[in-house]
Amino acid sequence: MKKLKIADGIHMLTMNVEDILFEGIWEIANGVTLNSYIVQGEKTAIIDGVIGWDGVPETLYDSLEEMGVDPQSIDYLIVNHMEPDHSGWISNFRKVKNYFTIICTDKAAKMVSSFYGEDRIRVVKEGDTLDLGKGRVLSFHPVPNVHWPDTMYTYENATGTLFSCDMFGAFGRMGDHCFDDELTPEEKEFFETEGIRYYSNVMATFTPSLRKAIEKAKSLDIKTIAPGHGPVYRKNPQKIIDDYSRYSLYADGSGKNEVTILWGSMYGMTAKAVEFVEGVLQREGVRYSKMHMPLESESEMAATVFRSAGIIIAAPTYEYKLFPPVAAALNELGRKKITGKAAFRFGSYGWSGGAEKELHEIIERNGMKWDFAASVEFEGAPKEDDLKKIEAGVLELLEKMKGKILE
Ligand SMILES: Cc1cc2nc3c(=O)[nH]c(=O)nc-3n(C[C@H](O)[C@H](O)[C@H](O)COP(=O)(O)O)c2cc1C
Ligand SMILES: [Fe+2]
Ligand SMILES: [Fe+2]
Repeated sequence: MKKLKIADGIHMLTMNVEDILFEGIWEIANGVTLNSYIVQGEKTAIIDGVIGWDGVPETLYDSLEEMGVDPQSIDYLIVNHMEPDHSGWISNFRKVKNYFTIICTDKAAKMVSSFYGEDRIRVVKEGDTLDLGKGRVLSFHPVPNVHWPDTMYTYENATGTLFSCDMFGAFGRMGDHCFDDELTPEEKEFFETEGIRYYSNVMATFTPSLRKAIEKAKSLDIKTIAPGHGPVYRKNPQKIIDDYSRYSLYADGSGKNEVTILWGSMYGMTAKAVEFVEGVLQREGVRYSKMHMPLESESEMAATVFRSAGIIIAAPTYEYKLFPPVAAALNELGRKKITGKAAFRFGSYGWSGGAEKELHEIIERNGMKWDFAASVEFEGAPKEDDLKKIEAGVLELLEKMKGKILE
């Protein structure tokens, strides 16, 4: 666990977590950090605790003591968000300290009580404050449905620090550099990629609520953004606000100037056409990624589709429907409310087809409103004529992408 100073009386504890399925689903190939913050006035508050993923709190207590914070002196536990990656340590803390007050929203209070049996809770509403003494005043600002109903920001007035919990977070482990002004260009690129992975995997479904949270952040005089996952922005907090605004547009169909080929093939017939399409994209100088389902992780698939302005779906018919791993991927994208993408599908069938019908059912059912170029279905192997139509479909897709590019 690393300890860093944010300002006088404000410290950060951060640890990397690897080899877990985040939310029990998402393979986080590059890990994630859990960040916790200690604010000291005459009284001490801890915002969003962290302990090892195994639930052993000793690491936290040792770190607090090394920072000169006696765990016994912590009077307030501020729970910005009740999800256990931020609050899972409360029961352990209860074992070493008998008296403390939990501060959270009314929605979180109900969960703190039902999940952990805690009842010494002060419920806060928009603008409520907590004076810790020595000029450290915290105020609380609910941002519901980011991505749970209970979520709030905590804001420290004197330093203009926004403790934003899941909002403005990113996946990705942190090395020695935890502040935006320390990041190398490679690390900045890494957190752009991991920020998109995080937004697409965890936040995308809640884009309308995130937009409200972005507006609320803009209404505060912010000098530092200190999230629960990922780097702290002290030089340029506006950057992560702008990034999140851009990601919210990716959820509505904008994207980087690149294409994702979301594909699967049983016996290589559709795969032949994928190979052909790669040649077309290379000739046109278009950046592209291939997501081979079901071999690719859902996390990587969702992130890659999310950030792309154009999507090519290449999948055959299977039992009168769309090849199941690709259908599952599209359903996942639908559940994440990734809408408005420019798209094009082709695929092979053996006798009757049926993939195309299910594709449109999935798009309709999830209200995805993807803008499709005319699909191309071919019997068995793709012939010269099929490839010509596929090429035309790709070129139409590239045209459709033009109005959606946002880097
Ligand atoms: C398990 C299985 C189920 C299939 N179901 C259908 C079907 O319902 N309708 C159809 O037209 N073709 C069906 N096919 C035929 C495939 O769509 C055809 O072989 C196609 O060329 C496969 O393309 P691929 O090699 O890219 O996987 C099925 C093939 C398999 C192996
Ligand atoms: Fe969360
Ligand atoms: Fe979280």
